[in-house]
Amino acid sequence: MKKRTLKVFALLAAVTLLFTACSAEPILTENYRYTEAELKSMQLAEYVYDDNAPSLCDAFADYFKVGACINPWTFSDTSSDEYKLITKQFNAYVYENSTKPDAMHPSEDRYNFADTDKLVEFAESQGALVRGHTLIWHSQVPDWFFYASGNSGEPATAEQLMKRIDEHVTTIVTHYKGKIDTWDVVNEVINDGGGLRFSDWLKIVGDYDGDGDKYDYIEQAFISARAADPDARLIINDYNMEWSEQKTISMYLAVKKMLEDGVPIDGVGLQMHIGYDTNIDTLRSNLEKLAKLREINPDFVLEVTELDMNCNGWDGDPNDKEFIEKFNQTYSDLFALLMEYSEMGFIDTIMFWGINDANSWLNSSERDNYPFLIDRENKFKSAYWDVISLALD
Ligand code: XIL
Repeated sequence: MKKRTLKVFALLAAVTLLFTACSAEPILTENYRYTEAELKSMQLAEYVYDDNAPSLCDAFADYFKVGACINPWTFSDTSSDEYKLITKQFNAYVYENSTKPDAMHPSEDRYNFADTDKLVEFAESQGALVRGHTLIWHSQVPDWFFYASGNSGEPATAEQLMKRIDEHVTTIVTHYKGKIDTWDVVNEVINDGGGLRFSDWLKIVGDYDGDGDKYDYIEQAFISARAADPDARLIINDYNMEWSEQKTISMYLAVKKMLEDGVPIDGVGLQMHIGYDTNIDTLRSNLEKLAKLREINPDFVLEVTELDMNCNGWDGDPNDKEFIEKFNQTYSDLFALLMEYSEMGFIDTIMFWGINDANSWLNSSERDNYPFLIDRENKFKSAYWDVISLALD
């Protein structure tokens, strides 16, 4: 809907609301269906499932998929508000924890596909894209990978671990061939200060092929994934590239070398766990650096894989005007930048790391966080409207 049309609707809605209020009718009756303009005019409107209500993924359909991480219980009750929210607002899904190595492959001879099978089935019923997160990570990975078989306590050999990586990746990716669109093949392999993370994977495998670099375990994971499902998009995923030039350059150099060596990496995933006061110019310059990987692979892409905006730096009232203005501005500037990268053909998927403020991993027992466009009661924040209006311009 164009802005002018929205304005006319907003005016009509304001008159209707005024009239309704004056006639002392309850504004929100159970079956009341909001118009987009009414929701906008109320700004903090309650989420209601309604074919006429706006939706993030519909608004940005010309730019990218807009997805969210969910959990098996998020879609088990089709009458829950969360179910309505995820089916309306998002058209891409990833599990928050259930596709990680500890969940999928708890012991050497046991795979657990049941939960992820359900995600795939659910996404299929919604015509949504599915991301697989993640095959190789230093965290949420069972110890058995790194030990020789039995209870000897001996570490695994490089050869044994390379075989296990191949078997693990091949088995899982083959099971979801043609069903999981995109894999975070490896997660967080770059060190915060630059270089490769000194994980158990790296320590044990090292420079396996003797070519002078230690990308070997990463290379194996990508090669096995490509062989198991040639059509799946294969991503190297990491954090802090939104602000750290050093980490971005390390990622660039690692991927450049691997691409030159023929390793099938399709794109870099930026987790995008950012602060509400993130410097968007720095982010832009880091995206520019990663975009140069197109010089080696002309189809190279970037993805936003785990977006949330940490508000812990704000010690004041979250309803404070100054805070809300900053939060809204950062979200708008971010989406404007991502839309530019979509128009250049680099970004076609943006995933939020949660569906509303209530279920974010950033909440702690000490304090609540409020990192999303949708609040803890499933109300749209003003930032939601600011972001949506970018797509309607
Ligand atoms: C987090 C989950 O949100 C938490 O529930 C879990 O306890 C720890 O992992 N980067 C990632 C995600 O790649 O897998 C992490 O998810 C958040 C940081």
